[in-house]
Amino acid sequence: MIVAIDGPTASGKGTIAKAIAAHYGLPHLDTGLLYRAVGRQVALNGGNPDDPDHALAAAAFAESLLDDPELRSEATGALASRVSVHPAVRAALLARQQAFAGQPGGAVLDGRDIATVIAPEAEAKLFVTASVAARALRRWAEMQGRGEAVTRADIEADLAARDERDRTRTAAPLRQAEGAALLDTSALPIEAAIAAAIALVEQQLATK
Ligand code: DC
Repeated sequence: MIVAIDGPTASGKGTIAKAIAAHYGLPHLDTGLLYRAVGRQVALNGGNPDDPDHALAAAAFAESLLDDPELRSEATGALASRVSVHPAVRAALLARQQAFAGQPGGAVLDGRDIATVIAPEAEAKLFVTASVAARALRRWAEMQGRGEAVTRADIEADLAARDERDRTRTAAPLRQAEGAALLDTSALPIEAAIAAAIALVEQQLATK
């Protein structure tokens, strides 16, 4: 069984994906990490993330960076969004993701294009979203916890810019796939969001 989970940054999709993987005993791939590794490698190379050649050259080394703690930073998230617009970068990461999805026992993947491009055959598809204000508040609390000084207004502006880039790019834009169940987590504590997500997966499996 493949579970495909898409949605914007800080929607809760990563936490939900992990919980679903644990619930069903499936392996989980956070595909955003692959794009983050490419963005990070471009920065390490002193390259330009908007240049498709620089971004593609970095993609070859992405795998070796997957444990780098810097991948989780806001700055790397923004670089990831910029390198992910290049079709050649997306193509370079495709086989890795499809192989993960195709494991014999199944898998859970989360990202932006899992149900639309990577695994449209998935048995369960979720589109997890939340308002910009709710997502900015979560991200702000997270960063406060890490002692990073940043205003909510700045975070909201960054999230809105990233959403706009991810939704309007030509190659595999972020969108709700046909057949994907919508889960808006704006008003839900994470435990409730996880319970709702599992219920939606169960509903989809019941109709297969
Ligand atoms: O989920 P995330 O915030 O870690 O993703 C970082 C960026 O990577 C996101 O802004 C767009 C890109 N991305 C993508 O284009 N396709 C995916 N499947 C996952 C992430």
